[in-house]
Amino acid sequence: MSSIELTPTRKRLSGELFVPGDKSISHRSVIFSSLAEGTSVITNFLTGEDCMRTVEAFRDMGVNIIQENDRLTVQSRGIHHLKEPAHPINFGNSGTTARLMSGVLAGLPLFTTAYGDESLSKRPMDRVVEPLSLMGAEIKGRNNSSLLPLAYNGKKLRSAKHNLKVKSAQVKSALLLAGMLAEGETEVIELGQTRNHTEMLLPEFGVDVKVEGRSIKIQGGQQPTPSDIRVPGDISSAAFFIVAASIVPQSELTIRNVGLNPTRDGIIKAMKQMGADIDVQVHTYIGSEPVGDLVIRSSQLEGITLEGDLVPNIIDEVPILALAATQAKGKTVIKDAEELRYKETDRIAAVVETLSILGADVEAKEDGFIINGQTSLKGGCIDSFGDHRIGMMGAVASLICDYNVTVENKDCINISYPSFFEHLNGILN
Ligand code: S3P
Repeated sequence: MSSIELTPTRKRLSGELFVPGDKSISHRSVIFSSLAEGTSVITNFLTGEDCMRTVEAFRDMGVNIIQENDRLTVQSRGIHHLKEPAHPINFGNSGTTARLMSGVLAGLPLFTTAYGDESLSKRPMDRVVEPLSLMGAEIKGRNNSSLLPLAYNGKKLRSAKHNLKVKSAQVKSALLLAGMLAEGETEVIELGQTRNHTEMLLPEFGVDVKVEGRSIKIQGGQQPTPSDIRVPGDISSAAFFIVAASIVPQSELTIRNVGLNPTRDGIIKAMKQMGADIDVQVHTYIGSEPVGDLVIRSSQLEGITLEGDLVPNIIDEVPILALAATQAKGKTVIKDAEELRYKETDRIAAVVETLSILGADVEAKEDGFIINGQTSLKGGCIDSFGDHRIGMMGAVASLICDYNVTVENKDCINISYPSFFEHLNGILN
């Protein structure tokens, strides 16, 4: 198992940084391109392990995907020419691949099987299997078809109206993709706003999607047309450096070309509410996604309560926000975040264990935690729990610890941010 020992540097963060492409948009770009007939080019694609699982899934189905660094050329003959994979598809650690591909595989006339790694094999798939079954999908698997491995007896699905029971962009997207392949009009009504990249990006591929408040409608029988996509920088990756520059004294850091979709920018709102000094300059739109530069200067943070509708917007940023809370004066409460228990690991338990080892005052709740700050963090040996975002949170914590921090099982960081340590070293001055 890989580990890294990080010694206190007492250095500040300065200079500028380009974070890698957005994970959610990278997955969607490769899915939509692979379903289109023709050639699409995706640039600034995130080549982390998760997105490569989606690439491999379509290669298994006969799509020619050429990778040159972060540029993908996707050459597909379209929905009707995808072939049955000769072996089970490996979804790896990727929940997004598993959920979104379930929507696709259920609706294509192919028989496929798929499995995941140890972590993904424990994560709930019934959240997609159940609503897909209402559309006529035939999906079978362990534990009453709620866990991977799954077998998909794909076929033409019928449309449905879904009232979602969870606030999940993955579930919404799986059902929209299934709806796109089905007969008739499918409607998905969200329980609360979640990231809207599927609805924003499908029209770039010529697919008609109607959004009215929390209702999203898609007409079946549509095939995407090829499109060239430039993926913006991932705000969820930038989040680690937004917090790092805020809590390491004397820092001033610029992060360029970050995707600032309003369903994803909660980290900036939350940090500003805590007193962070962040300048935001939107300078371009990629499709309909706003993209801009951030300048972050260190500042004294204050505790806040994070709850309700903001939570889905910051769902991947909660671990790093929890670290920020240890450096805020007063109490920070994070609630309504029970979804964290179903991520790559139980992130409520992992955050509490990690920050407690480092010397923080943190208490777990069923749906979040309470953190009392400001505490000076000591150091120690922590585990990533195989979760990239816990591993990166531990590495950022080491920047403000008095003693060494060892992050065990650090290789999982490659899932979303293969160049993380290189980038971190490049801005420590
Ligand atoms: C994602 C949605 C979120 C998020 C994940 C990526 C997506 O999951 O945690 O990292 O790309 O749709 P849920 O939809 O399960 O909340």
